[in-house]
Amino acid sequence: MKISPPNPPLQISIPKLPSPFSSKVSDRIVKLAALDPDGKKHEVVGLTGQTLLKALTNTGLIDPASHRLEEIDACSAECEVNIAQKWLDMLPPRSYDEEYILKRSSRARVMNTHSRLACQVVLTPELQGMVVGVPEPKPWDIP
Ligand code: FES
Repeated sequence: MKISPPNPPLQISIPKLPSPFSSKVSDRIVKLAALDPDGKKHEVVGLTGQTLLKALTNTGLIDPASHRLEEIDACSAECEVNIAQKWLDMLPPRSYDEEYILKRSSRARVMNTHSRLACQVVLTPELQGMVVGVPEPKPWDIP
């Protein structure tokens, strides 16, 4: 009886991809620019995997007290921001709920095409340098 040699062990190489959830904080930094309602530019530093809302509240551009919910059905788009087209194109499309909240919260019931809810935008490495406009709070959001 002829005995054949064992097959060589299967070699699988898994490519190392940058993870948006890397444990090294320095690998997760996403630098953004935000324009406040007066047109003043602010540097905002966020982390991949974090929401845009979290990065803006950490910088003091959005009052965290009025944006605790992050459950969009329970909110009225207080975290609405305007995002430049270049960056808007890189984001996943708005969910039905996000569009509904944005329309419901606009005076004319028409959504600004640059509007997104900052609580629904998750930072990724591709959003490095994104420019975001923070509009004035809506009259009904001012205590
Ligand atoms: S935090 Fe409520 S809609 Fe974004």
